[in-house]
Amino acid sequence: MTVRPVLSIGHPTLRVVASEVPIEDIASPPLQALIDDLIETMRHANGAGLAATQVDERVRIAVMEVGDNPRYPYKPRIPLTVAINPIIEPLDDELVEINEGCLSVPLRGNVQRHVNVRVRYLDRNGVAHDEIKRGLTAGTWQHECDHLDGVLFIDKVADTSTLATWDQFEQHHRAGFVERITKFVQRVGS
Ligand code: NI
Repeated sequence: MTVRPVLSIGHPTLRVVASEVPIEDIASPPLQALIDDLIETMRHANGAGLAATQVDERVRIAVMEVGDNPRYPYKPRIPLTVAINPIIEPLDDELVEINEGCLSVPLRGNVQRHVNVRVRYLDRNGVAHDEIKRGLTAGTWQHECDHLDGVLFIDKVADTSTLATWDQFEQHHRAGFVERITKFVQRVGS
């Protein structure tokens, strides 16, 4: 396993629509090695998720995991998930404003996300999953699936006055966001 460099906004690969992974390729050693690298890189960077495009691989694979993450103490846990060729669809019109960051963008900002989504994907064993995700976990899925279409969260920041560096977020915005989102997490449950 290798910790790969994470591309920063401006790199062209972050803007491509990634290619579907052929099912017959999932078991191949190079693809399994890429998945291991994504997991290692995500954990090394303390990220909640990482898409293959962020390590310059133009394939539709994302990994997610939220444990006891000091970057996101308010976030519900997400078990280690490998999503290959994920398809995401909103279940209704309910939206929540989430303050997001990204390992490829040096800013945080507020983005509207669907609260309830259906996700279909293959795991690293090629097993098909069809699941409902809610709340902040649904937001993480939307953020990672956007990466596979060349979309960054910053594209969806409607109110650019919410943009902040990590330092400024910590100083001026974190407490208010955590208070608001903690109530939301308590209500939605995930
Ligand atoms: Ni990201």
